[in-house]
Amino acid sequence: MAGPSDTRRTMRVQPIDVSHRDWLTQLLEQYWGLPVVSISGAHDPTLLPGFVAEDSGELVGAVTYRTTDSECEVVTLNSLRPRAGVGTELLGAVKTVAERNGLRLWLITTDDNPSAIAFYEHRGMSRRAVHANFVDSVRSHKPQSPHGQPGYRDAIEFSY
Ligand SMILES: CC(C)(COP(=O)(O)OP(=O)(O)OC[C@H]1O[C@@H](n2cnc3c(N)ncnc32)[C@H](O)[C@@H]1OP(=O)(O)O)[C@@H](O)C(=O)NCCC(=O)NCCS
Repeated sequence: MAGPSDTRRTMRVQPIDVSHRDWLTQLLEQYWGLPVVSISGAHDPTLLPGFVAEDSGELVGAVTYRTTDSECEVVTLNSLRPRAGVGTELLGAVKTVAERNGLRLWLITTDDNPSAIAFYEHRGMSRRAVHANFVDSVRSHKPQSPHGQPGYRDAIEFSY
């Protein structure tokens, strides 16, 4: 398997297409459970646009996003090769889409995810708001979640 510095050199980021959908659905179901709930509502990210990162024929990460007239929300971001630049490349691809279209790029993460918080701050994003008791909103959308009791309470909103 390639090491982190190899990955930075050899990975390719490309738009999600139909050939990635089964892999993406499995990843998102396993990691997040569907639907994915945000402060903007419940979303099916398997149907959203996004990008995958691929290295030597292996899919090593994915990002999905949704757009409105004025905003672009990152709905999911997963790196399967930690600290090798995959998350940076994927977030950068969505940032380019947002900038090209004049959209504000934002996302949320939860207060039990210090890695993601560190990552977004490291990537120059700022905390804009804390959405208290976000867990209640998730529970209302997903009362039967197979992912057990959530370890978080609030959502933290980041944007550029
Ligand atoms: C958050 C996540 C996407 C980061 O992806 P990644 O591929 O590891 O990130 P990168 O390798 O691009 O790291 C980017 C920078 O953030 C920093 N960083 C990453 N994780 C960090 C951590 N836990 N603590 C401190 N800094 C961190 C790195 O030092 C790196 O900086 P550098 O490029 O200047 O060295 C990844 O950890 C992940 O998939 N987590 C599980 C899913 C998740 O929580 N997604 C976010 C949902 S809101």
